[in-house]
Amino acid sequence: MLSEALSKALSEQVNAEYYSAYLYQAMSAYADRAGFKGIANWLSIQAKEEMAHGVHMYEHILERGGTPSFGDVKAPPSSYKSIREVFEKVLAHEIHVTERINKIASLSMQENDHATYNFILWYVNEQIEEEKNAEDIIAKIAIMGDNTGLIYHLDMELAGRTFTDPFPAAAADTAAG
Ligand code: FEO
Repeated sequence: MLSEALSKALSEQVNAEYYSAYLYQAMSAYADRAGFKGIANWLSIQAKEEMAHGVHMYEHILERGGTPSFGDVKAPPSSYKSIREVFEKVLAHEIHVTERINKIASLSMQENDHATYNFILWYVNEQIEEEKNAEDIIAKIAIMGDNTGLIYHLDMELAGRTFTDPFPAAAADTAAG
């Protein structure tokens, strides 16, 4: 059974995942309004993934006999100076999320909750990819400089991203009842 401390930490992380979704959706709206539909698509799919991260964590709390708690999801910033700033903020946010996930992993170990430790490792690994994706895009933007024409190349590339459910087996289990 999940301890109260872990139940609270995981619930707060569910909230943080929902905030991430809200943040990336707001960034997507900025990109869309600026004419970068492909970048808007990438950020919108990122928002969907964050929702899936939150729901999956919420389900773990229930599965382990914990009681999820709910708080306000804070409002994200909605205006940005540039696409470069958007992705710098994506990276800064993901580094912050990594710190939060690591704290939950440490708490799981302290409490000898091997099931939750095993569960949170998926998120530990996911954060490697989350940070790398943002770093790779920032590196490309650094090459492009402030050349809007070149940013359109990035826009076309990011238009190709499609949503893949990060937890397809869990979704199938739910569908099967
Ligand atoms: Fe839920 Fe961006 O990691």
